[in-house]
Amino acid sequence: MSIDPNFPISRRSLLRAGGGLALVAALRPGSGRAAAGTEYQILAGTGEVHLLGQDQPETAVWAYNGKVPGPPLRLPQGESVRIVVENRLEEGTTVHWHGIRLPIAMDGVPGISQPPIEPGKTFVYEFTPPDAGTFWYHPHVDGLQQLGRGLSGALIIEERVPLAFDRDLIWMMADWRLDDRGQIAGGFGNKMEAMMSGRVGSVVTLNGSVSAGEPVRAGERIRLRLVNGALARIMALRFEGHRPVVVALDGQPCDPHEPENGRLLLGPAMRMDVVIDMLGKPGQRYRVVDEFYKGLGYTLTWLAYDAAPPIRIRPLDPPGALPRNPLPEPDLTTAQRHELVIQGGMMGAGAMAGLGGTTGGSMMGGGMMTCCGMGGGAAGGGMMGGGGMSGMMGSGMGTAGSGSTTWSINGSSMTGDGQAGMPPLLTLNLGRSYVLALRNQTVWWHPMHLHGHSFKLLSRNGVPVPHRQWGDTALVSPRETVEVALVADNPGDWVLHCHVMDHQVSGLMTILRIA
Ligand code: C2O
Ligand code: CU
Ligand code: CU
Repeated sequence: MSIDPNFPISRRSLLRAGGGLALVAALRPGSGRAAAGTEYQILAGTGEVHLLGQDQPETAVWAYNGKVPGPPLRLPQGESVRIVVENRLEEGTTVHWHGIRLPIAMDGVPGISQPPIEPGKTFVYEFTPPDAGTFWYHPHVDGLQQLGRGLSGALIIEERVPLAFDRDLIWMMADWRLDDRGQIAGGFGNKMEAMMSGRVGSVVTLNGSVSAGEPVRAGERIRLRLVNGALARIMALRFEGHRPVVVALDGQPCDPHEPENGRLLLGPAMRMDVVIDMLGKPGQRYRVVDEFYKGLGYTLTWLAYDAAPPIRIRPLDPPGALPRNPLPEPDLTTAQRHELVIQGGMMGAGAMAGLGGTTGGSMMGGGMMTCCGMGGGAAGGGMMGGGGMSGMMGSGMGTAGSGSTTWSINGSSMTGDGQAGMPPLLTLNLGRSYVLALRNQTVWWHPMHLHGHSFKLLSRNGVPVPHRQWGDTALVSPRETVEVALVADNPGDWVLHCHVMDHQVSGLMTILRIA
């Protein structure tokens, strides 16, 4: 079969039973609402893309269908889909459909769900997404490198009834460490970094390139789907002059609310749907800044208003809630409780100067991460100044190797991206409710992700989490304990891991067996 890598998603005409040739409706540009039973093809291969902007040299990447990010897949809720993945890389790969509640055999974890798809081979993923919302897809083999070189894409499950927004936008964010020729720097799996914040890069892209501005129209109401597709970078986005309302986390609707301090906090792999009314002035530009790492704020992009007058005069009513997904409600009166204790990493006071962390003395000023060579920050949006990565370093660093250990959960460390034969940490009874207490005894942040389920966020350090929030990835801050609850309704061996990829591959992963 021949596939044009420039065409985002190739679709085959389908021969239905009865022999008629079913014509598939044409895609609207920029959208890809799928008909039921549609088949998609995705090629994992290499490509060259303009990460730094059209006038800048291309960067060699690994990419789905030659694009970074990969083609956004928009699938209808509750309809089965077939996705044929062909591997044109020189190493094995799989695709993980992050956040989708699907059968274990379709989950893409090597050794548990399937063997890796070998070079030149294909694998057909088939599943029926039960939940509408914002998800994403990425490899689960050699994840640190394959994700870090560009393999990821947005996966949107469309509500059965279209909702009333003027526009539905995806912002797929990725973080890159580039050398002075604008190429991806090697050194994936650096041991020292793995014990700290992980591989945080030097350039953040929005939908595949450094952003010079996102065009908006005064008066419009946008559903914005934020996806943090970074290996390790945590983001805290603030929209100057605007008041985004959070309506979903990790694809799951919550009670609409404005975020604490006006900042949208997104760890790696996390998604957030926000509704933004564009109430700025025509012709103006408003910054969208990421303020997570202290002293290392940067402008991700600008809301760039068209000069035209507002599309509506009277402000809209506040956004309503999205329709809830068919999630099983955990029974907290009978739920069994398990503690999962996270340990490891470089110890030392002030190891993390992000939000809510401390401003540790920075031993690393200017060193270590300047391999990026993108100094000066002259190129605008999403570009870090050179040599200023100290905000994510710990003071514990200074004394070589003090207190360095590998990561573990309840004393066991599963490394890599998934493997056969790993004994489960816990066996959960199919259909029973559980409370998992994620107890972070380290001085680092961990976005803890469970496959195959969405969980309800109960509490942080004993304080109830408001707004009926669910997710598949819980961002646990240094020394924090986060309680989540779920019904163990999906049989299989499910990995639970930190989505800072360096942490995952160096021990911060375990298995929960549901049987
Ligand atoms: Cu996106 Cu195992 O994860
Ligand atoms: Cu996942
Ligand atoms: Cu972690």
